[in-house]
Amino acid sequence: MAVLEQRVTELECGTAALATASGQAALNYAFSNVADGGGNIVATPQLYGTTHTLLAHVLPKAGITGKFAANDSAEAMAAQIDGNTKALFCESVGNPAGNICDIEAIARVAHAHGVPLIVDNTVATPVMMRPFEHGADIVVHSLTKFMGGHGSAMGGILVESGCFDWMKHAERFPQFTQPDVSYHGMIYAERFPLYPFVARARSVLARTTGAVLSPMSAFLLLQGIETVNLRVERHVANAQTVAEYLKSHPDVAWVEYAGLKQSRYHALARKYFDGKAPSLLTFGVKGGYESSKRFYDALKLIKRLVNIGDAKSLACHPASTTHRQMPEADQLKAGITPETIRLSIGIEHKDDIIGDIAQALAAARGMRVVQAAE
Ligand SMILES: Cc1ncc(COP(=O)(O)O)c(C=O)c1O
Repeated sequence: MAVLEQRVTELECGTAALATASGQAALNYAFSNVADGGGNIVATPQLYGTTHTLLAHVLPKAGITGKFAANDSAEAMAAQIDGNTKALFCESVGNPAGNICDIEAIARVAHAHGVPLIVDNTVATPVMMRPFEHGADIVVHSLTKFMGGHGSAMGGILVESGCFDWMKHAERFPQFTQPDVSYHGMIYAERFPLYPFVARARSVLARTTGAVLSPMSAFLLLQGIETVNLRVERHVANAQTVAEYLKSHPDVAWVEYAGLKQSRYHALARKYFDGKAPSLLTFGVKGGYESSKRFYDALKLIKRLVNIGDAKSLACHPASTTHRQMPEADQLKAGITPETIRLSIGIEHKDDIIGDIAQALAAARGMRVVQAAE
């Protein structure tokens, strides 16, 4: 586990990391650590569904409330900040919306208000971007996804940049700057000046609540990380090919992919990813919910599986799976319509992926022809 922590610390150019049993555990620890004793976390609305549930429904019972901005702009985030805000939070690339956050602008807003920026970098991976280079203070990953790459082990990690000055904001963050009665009166920011956040998360949260990573999972995740650089290259190239194919297909209503020039996130893709985009894309089949469902059920090579980042291509219908607990209005805010299909494009040969999509679109079209005749 220590080797995994060191490796991800180096990949993200941080000072220390804490590995956890899952990505959700890492997020739970990140929020609980920064807002110990209560407070709010200002977040973008486009989040992985379970993270939204954690911030909107679970943590509020422990006094930590998620405040969701109207959109992912720095201005919308700034509008939600108040005297009780403990951190800003976003996904560098949102799952499933595929939106790209302007980390630099959001970090500037966070720091102007004396709070850190926490970034979930699961979808982008440090191969595509290192949030610390753009001002983020804490990075969180679900290692279950691209980093592990094979869906064979769950894991998460939180990494610290070492740059946030907790002592300067000592009143807001007494958990790092005052003696901890549960740990020999330790003052984390004095004892571990380069990584007080990780030190406290390890000695208070992981030790007492126990969401630690198993050694076997650490081994499997380390094996995955050996090839992540190569895999991400192929993921990205395949996703661009698939997005262009879908964009030109007459049965496709819309495609959201930041790698396409028409995308409203393409300027940010150019800023952060050299015009490319991670291999997560969403689209809708013409004909709405039923057509998209028919497409989904007709897939053969692409697995219908609620995961992302596997070497295998995966598809998901968020409205009936990951986001189904959310009211429809919140789903729309999170970028999900009833017909949205999310694809996590894998590293298979591109012709095989396109072939599967083509036959599934034909199956969906077949159903529309029957419906029209009835
Ligand atoms: C962006 C993001 N963060 C966190 C998680 C949660 O990770 P885990 O499944 O490892 O708990 C997910 C899972 O899909 C995710 O997509």
